[in-house]
Amino acid sequence: MEGEQPPIGTLLNLDEIEDLATRTMSKKAWAYYYSASDDKISKRRNTEAFRDIALRPKVFVDCTKCDLTTDLVGNRVSIPIYVSPAAMARLGHPSGEAGIAEACRSFGALQIISNNASMTPEQIVADAAPDQAFGWQLYVQNDRTKSERMIARINKLSAIKFVALTLDSPVTGKREDDERSGNIINTLTDSSSGEEHVDNADTQSVVSQTEDQTFNGLDPALTWTETLGWLAKHTHLPVVLKGIQTHEDAYIAAKYTPQVKGIILSNHGGRSLDTAPPAVHTLLEIRKYCPEVFESLDVWIDGGIKRGTDVVKALCLGARGVGIGRAALWGLGAGGVAGVKRTLESMNGEAVITERHSADISLQF
Ligand SMILES: Cc1cc2nc3c(=O)[nH]c(=O)nc-3n(C[C@H](O)[C@H](O)[C@H](O)COP(=O)(O)O)c2cc1C
Repeated sequence: MEGEQPPIGTLLNLDEIEDLATRTMSKKAWAYYYSASDDKISKRRNTEAFRDIALRPKVFVDCTKCDLTTDLVGNRVSIPIYVSPAAMARLGHPSGEAGIAEACRSFGALQIISNNASMTPEQIVADAAPDQAFGWQLYVQNDRTKSERMIARINKLSAIKFVALTLDSPVTGKREDDERSGNIINTLTDSSSGEEHVDNADTQSVVSQTEDQTFNGLDPALTWTETLGWLAKHTHLPVVLKGIQTHEDAYIAAKYTPQVKGIILSNHGGRSLDTAPPAVHTLLEIRKYCPEVFESLDVWIDGGIKRGTDVVKALCLGARGVGIGRAALWGLGAGGVAGVKRTLESMNGEAVITERHSADISLQF
């Protein structure tokens, strides 16, 4: 019947989940998640770049075994798919980032908590399984004491295993879908707006911690030596650098081991600098110009990953972890915890099918 929601278990892929979330969520919340900068070229290419790569399966290879278990910066996870940090999960569903954590728990998947989450890190990890792993994402503030206070809280949470330092967004990208819809982040600051409101009573203030406002206070003068030195003074947690977009920077990052244990190749889901390269192209660059980087640290990738075949392609190219940003938010919007579980189930199921086609797959590009 028209208008009736299909049961979440009948949704077959991430596009169907996104469609349902699009129909279910408020227009403003949808625009915040969907938007990307300028002409959304990077966002589109992120997905296309994976589709341009062909899989080359070999035959007469025993493919009875398929094991996607791996280590992500030394933490055992059941699947290589992890949830990328994304602000404001409660726009999608009241269970918010804790709902994502619950879904990750049932898949043995890692989750990175956004600096601008709509719940506190303490709330998000409260029901974590003993072996469940989280990272916490940091935007370094101009007022360093603010970041230092947050890091001190993170240091006390044993479920949080590393700090992911985001470097690809010194300023917010020009996201026109979001602006056109009136930008939900601004309306959240206006109690008289009558717009959908995220209830912050029990959260770190969504209003003072929103993505855009935090960007206004972001330190634009970060450097390899100063910033990593400062971070080392405030945490012993390993660091994962998020937003690496060139092989040159991947090469430099590898010089900062053991403090830096990983890099995330990412263009922020196309939300930051439009026409920045798809992460999978950066992965190819690293393979060509400085493959030794893979020996020194974990290389993870996110942006545009929608199918299990994308996951397997990234793994074949040397990535250890494969992140999903919007896909988890769409899952949340479509069906709360069950929606995020369906997202992970769908991608992981496809990745298993891909792997079981051949234990020996190479790529053509
Ligand atoms: C709504 C939204 C909010 C985001 N917020 C953050 C954030 O707070 N910190 C961060 O490092 N990345 C943030 N990102 C970027 C994601 O971590 C990730 O890089 C990106 O979403 C991956 O692309 P995908 O959405 O195509 O999977 C955000 C992305 C979206 C869509």
